[in-house]
Amino acid sequence: MGTLDGRVVVVTGAGRGLGRSHALLLAAEGARVVVNDLGTTTDGAGAEGDPADEVVAEIVAAGGSAVANRDDVADWDGARALVACAIEQFGDLDAVVNNAGFLRDRAIVSMDEEDFDSVVRVHLKGHFAMTHFAALHWRERHHAGERRARALVHTASTSGLFANPGQSNYGAAKSGIATLSQIAAQELARYGVVSNCILPGARTRLTLASPGLPELMEAPDGAFDTWDPGNASPLVAYLVGERCRFTGETFSVIGGLVQRMLPWTVGESVDSATGWTAASLAESLESL
Ligand SMILES: NC(=O)c1ccc[n+]([C@@H]2O[C@H](COP(=O)([O-])OP(=O)(O)OC[C@H]3O[C@@H](n4cnc5c(N)ncnc54)[C@H](O)[C@@H]3O)[C@@H](O)[C@H]2O)c1
Repeated sequence: MGTLDGRVVVVTGAGRGLGRSHALLLAAEGARVVVNDLGTTTDGAGAEGDPADEVVAEIVAAGGSAVANRDDVADWDGARALVACAIEQFGDLDAVVNNAGFLRDRAIVSMDEEDFDSVVRVHLKGHFAMTHFAALHWRERHHAGERRARALVHTASTSGLFANPGQSNYGAAKSGIATLSQIAAQELARYGVVSNCILPGARTRLTLASPGLPELMEAPDGAFDTWDPGNASPLVAYLVGERCRFTGETFSVIGGLVQRMLPWTVGESVDSATGWTAASLAESLESL
């Protein structure tokens, strides 16, 4: 008996890195998994290999159940087809793990339109398109009288919540994803859907291409490997499961440390019952 027996889960970008680890664990826990991956290069500009098929082969060899899918999650029809794939192959869809993405880090002054658009597209639109088509399915099933626990897991980043120079495209998309997750939690609760967000930290081809990170993330000999991507997957398994009691939350997960993030909160304020002049507000703001 696994904790996810009977669940049907789509994992996007599951051919490599974090998504691959999530797919392997979810399948080991009994979920039937749609392993989506377009097989892009690190910057999303081209394609290399067929990683979705490789992960499916690993799952099947271990006795699990999975199918491969190569749709582009940020393409409207691609996201629709990916949701349809789960329903055709496994009869339903219980959860989506939005994970696919790539990087094109540049300083703001050096970033061109394509670098900005492609990164915002794959992350923010990719998360939204999958959320949209999964939600349509869940609304239909709910109206038909079904009552099942449905779940969305979104992948944001500390680069989004805390900002990181060189990642204005990526950070803005990731910050947007954290808010999208909260809005989905609010809108879709009526259909039995929970929506949560994770901020992972792991050794993958994305982080190995970032200056300074390969040294930090070196695997230790014998000791617990903090940066193994598989460390984030038990949290994902919990969030897509029927036991999940959270919605609208964002969790950071690195190694064995899981932290619940606090949402934006109101800080100090100045207030005037009669409004401000530019000068009086400037003076008052000095006190903050
Ligand atoms: N690695 C980290 O430390 C870290 C930190 C914070 C957030 N993240 C996020 O985690 C997610 C996974 O990253 P990773 O580090 O495992 O990277 P990765 O490059 O190893 O895996 C990402 C996968 O997404 C696939 N992909 C890209 N565009 C796609 C598309 N349009 N449709 C379908 N598949 C597509 C790629 O082919 C790739 O296999 C990303 O959203 C990333 O931003 C990673």
